[in-house]
Amino acid sequence: MYRFKPELRIPGPAPVPPQVSMRVASPMINHRGREFKGMFPCVMERLKPLFGTENSIYMITGSGTSGMEAAVSNLVSPGTPVLCLVGGFFGQRWADLCRAYEGEVHILQCPWDGGIEPAQVGEYLDDHPEIEVIFVVHNESSTGVLNDIKAISAARGNHEALLVVDTVSSLGGARVEMDKWNLDVVISASQKCLMAPPGVAFLSASPRAREKMAQCQSSRYYFDIARYEKFMEKGETPFTPNISNVFALNEALTILEEEGIENTFARHLLMKEMVREGVKALGLELLVEDRFASPTVTAVKLENADAFRENIRVRYGVEFAGGQGPHAGKVFRIGHMGYATPLDMLTTLAVLEIALEKYGAAVTAAELVMNQKN
Ligand SMILES: Cc1ncc(COP(=O)(O)O)c(C=O)c1O
Repeated sequence: MYRFKPELRIPGPAPVPPQVSMRVASPMINHRGREFKGMFPCVMERLKPLFGTENSIYMITGSGTSGMEAAVSNLVSPGTPVLCLVGGFFGQRWADLCRAYEGEVHILQCPWDGGIEPAQVGEYLDDHPEIEVIFVVHNESSTGVLNDIKAISAARGNHEALLVVDTVSSLGGARVEMDKWNLDVVISASQKCLMAPPGVAFLSASPRAREKMAQCQSSRYYFDIARYEKFMEKGETPFTPNISNVFALNEALTILEEEGIENTFARHLLMKEMVREGVKALGLELLVEDRFASPTVTAVKLENADAFRENIRVRYGVEFAGGQGPHAGKVFRIGHMGYATPLDMLTTLAVLEIALEKYGAAVTAAELVMNQKN
């Protein structure tokens, strides 16, 4: 394995561009000083177009799950009836967190190889007017499903439940329109499509969600969003933040802005199509059908998937991710998010061809897709 240039084709952490990594090495600054206050609010401001919101964005030092826990601990009191839409490992994490905060957890389960059907959400809500908060994952990284959040939000109709969305593996790689889609809380993290190292999570809340947070009875301290709001007024965070990650995001957002948000989304869609066509040309089976397919991660069925991945990792230095939950050992996942290009997809498919000893088909299929789109 070529340790000097590991090829991460996993659904996060995703590769970090060298110019971003260099910023991480910047000298440390005072998080209560002028320089930080000059930079931090601008970085949060520049995230707003990716969230599709005018609401404030708060940064929590912690991994993506800290953003999830912040959402739950500020909205779920003991006994709060909540609905978790579960179609994979991270949907299940919403349910686990809601249980940890003693919510009355309802689960709408969908198969772990498909997306959540908005009509079913509407029906469930019709039968359960008591539900106060719905939790869903936009891009279920464990299966490679992109859920239709706009339609799920609309399926609420006149029901008053708040909608909380995990965009950890989609924000910056797929369209998120918090305000237009009427989403109440959106959380995300630094280490996937945002091209920064792991270490910070983000949370944005609608005015309606802020009202509910103010009434929430659950104990919280580090995750108390009211503290983040108060300190944001001064351009600060309540606790010492991951300052290096703010340097990194500052640079990563410049790269994304130079590419242009629509071009970024188009690049992710192109990579998705190349990978899907290439994998099919190899005679392998995709876990999810086209209508649910994620632009940032693709799951592929394969017996002995873990041995196959390990062989590729050792021989070629390319890392794919394994299956999770019921797919453990039977699926491998290809990450195509953030700092990744169509050329990377050609090399990714070439490695699969070599490992499967099926030369030619996958790269040709992917090239056809690429040429059609360019
Ligand atoms: C969709 C999704 N949600 C949440 C998480 C949890 O993030 P973390 O591992 O940074 O806590 C992940 C991580 O892979 C994810 O893909």
